[in-house]
Amino acid sequence: MKPVCVSMLLAVLLANTPFAYAEDDVTRGKYLVTIMGCGDCHTPGYFLGKPDLAHPLSGSDVGFEVPGAGIHWGPNLTPDRETGLGQWSDKEIITAIRKGVTRDGRHLIPVMPYRNFSVLTDRDARAIVAYLRTLPPVRHAVPQPVPPGEKASAPYMTVVMPH
Ligand code: HEC
Repeated sequence: MKPVCVSMLLAVLLANTPFAYAEDDVTRGKYLVTIMGCGDCHTPGYFLGKPDLAHPLSGSDVGFEVPGAGIHWGPNLTPDRETGLGQWSDKEIITAIRKGVTRDGRHLIPVMPYRNFSVLTDRDARAIVAYLRTLPPVRHAVPQPVPPGEKASAPYMTVVMPH
């Protein structure tokens, strides 16, 4: 076999091999999650001044009200299958982070900074997923989104439009 064929074969093999997480990716992912502030909006207690560091990224107890879009709480990002990202594929998680679209095709409110996150490299996006997969799964469902004009039963922050 000519050398060029070997490298092509390798390239094809690599492209089709599922991404295997290296320890370095998890370390990098943890670093990125920390500096990108995911914990601000996804860790309970963060906005109340007492982040629950025993249950990081397990879902915020303070939501965001955006005029015309209702109220949304930062969901649980731990690998719990019922209330977290346990059933999401890597690709689905990366699409939510970079495009702001959930696995059901819903557009997230832009409080989730996906416009900034859209420039994440593939490598860094995968590192974030690798780290999220290592979190202890926490069973914690955040409140369902509240449609505009309806009452919330959990705390939230709001954008006030002055008249
Ligand atoms: C400024 C607040 C904020 C920051 C920072 C933030 N998020 Fe979010 N995120 C949200 C909110 C609010 C939602 C829910 C929006 C909605 O339901 O429309 C969300 C939704 C998501 C979802 C969809 C989950 C689901 O169950 O629907 C994922 C995945 C996600 N964020 C991951 C991340 C990651 C990873 C980071 C850091 C790299 C991050 N977020 C940083 C506020 C934030």
